[in-house]
Amino acid sequence: MCHNHGVAYISPGVVEVQEIEYPKLALGDRKCEHGVILQIVSTNICGSDQHMVRGRTTAPAGLVLGHEITGLVIEAGRDVEFIKEGDLVSVPFNIACGRCRNCKVGQTGICLNVNPARPGAAYGYVDMGGWVGGQAEYVMVPYADFNLLKFPDKDQAMAKIRDLTLLSDIFPTGYHGAVTAGVGPGSIVYVAGAGPVGLACAVSCHLLGAAVVIVGDMIPERLEQARSFGCETVDLRKDTPLADQIAEIIGVPEVDSAVDCVGFEAHGHGSDSGKEQPATVLNAAMTVTRAGGAIGIPGLYVTGDPGASTEDAKEGNLSIRIGLGWAKSHSFYTGQCPVMKYHRQLMNAILYDKVQIAKAVNVEVISLDKAPKGYQDFDKGAAKKFVIDPHGLIPN
Ligand SMILES: NC(=O)c1ccc[n+]([C@@H]2O[C@H](COP(=O)([O-])OP(=O)(O)OC[C@H]3O[C@@H](n4cnc5c(N)ncnc54)[C@H](O)[C@@H]3O)[C@@H](O)[C@H]2O)c1
Ligand SMILES: [Zn+2]
Ligand SMILES: [Zn+2]
Repeated sequence: MCHNHGVAYISPGVVEVQEIEYPKLALGDRKCEHGVILQIVSTNICGSDQHMVRGRTTAPAGLVLGHEITGLVIEAGRDVEFIKEGDLVSVPFNIACGRCRNCKVGQTGICLNVNPARPGAAYGYVDMGGWVGGQAEYVMVPYADFNLLKFPDKDQAMAKIRDLTLLSDIFPTGYHGAVTAGVGPGSIVYVAGAGPVGLACAVSCHLLGAAVVIVGDMIPERLEQARSFGCETVDLRKDTPLADQIAEIIGVPEVDSAVDCVGFEAHGHGSDSGKEQPATVLNAAMTVTRAGGAIGIPGLYVTGDPGASTEDAKEGNLSIRIGLGWAKSHSFYTGQCPVMKYHRQLMNAILYDKVQIAKAVNVEVISLDKAPKGYQDFDKGAAKKFVIDPHGLIPN
């Protein structure tokens, strides 16, 4: 029997690397012939994990974390036809069956067959179907032919693995935020949040041809990171309202598109920037987006937040000024990113040097035993994207 180790959520603020079960090609007591076992080459820590680790969800103690997985196929079930042992693959964080009505139209973030509790599933995530996470040495991936993206050349892929590892979530997610906010050539965009998703969204806006990308946050190092690849920035600790700060940059207090890359743990602006105000980003996006513009919302909102400061917010009821968005005919787009819609194009953009995503989000590779430290540093607002290398396979 092979051994396996993974990062488990223990209690608010605490994760631990533990010995965990080696994955089986099984779903309960049924064989999972459409699945594969992966030896994990890289697996990233995400802001979405932090919501659980901060105790802001109903995640149970002992949950093995990790939904951003890239790996080598080391065993394939009988019914896997096109993915082969030895393939190096990117795993979309959404688990999707490929057979339901949503999967059939590309809505793999809300697959109907992989989570008995609600549409949509992910590895190692609360309320997402109970699938074992991949911040580990090995993991099982179901519906492998449908889910996996095979890299065309292993050596070429290993040379760019710091970039390609971001295809499992944040690059497609940031791109989806931009696409759903209507970003295209010449767009002027406000991106809220300069964490890895916000930075990936800003890169995506450039890739889509945006004229100006303005990134807002309250962490100076993260704003500096956004400026390092050509973004304008606004420091939300300042008392100057966001619209006025935008006007200082582009001459008018309005943008074409806004993307919320923050979610429900949003802080207020100005003198409120030290406190949580969960509706801040959504209300700010409606304030600064032009009439007729669109707002992409990859930032996560939950239906249960035990750590919220009000009874309403504990159930995901936030004080959103929907009348403002209505008056301006805004479009809103929410939900998990359907990674598969974008990962192949973005892989090619990486392989053919059209984008430098790892540099933009400042990837730092760490070993599995350094994962708890990675979580701590990320929680403190490090301007980095931590990528775990559980087998020491990533070249320097
Ligand atoms: N929809 C999806 O499929 C999907 C996928 C991945 C991540 N996410 C979500 O995207 C969000 C961002 O992820 P991340 O990894 O970058 O997280 P992160 O926590 O590293 O980044 C969030 C950033 O927002 C900043 N912030 C706080 N309040 C703000 C405000 N009012 N305005 C602007 N910035 C503010 C924080 O300082 C922080 O830098 C999270 O909610 C995460 O769960 C969603
Ligand atoms: Zn993620
Ligand atoms: Zn499905």
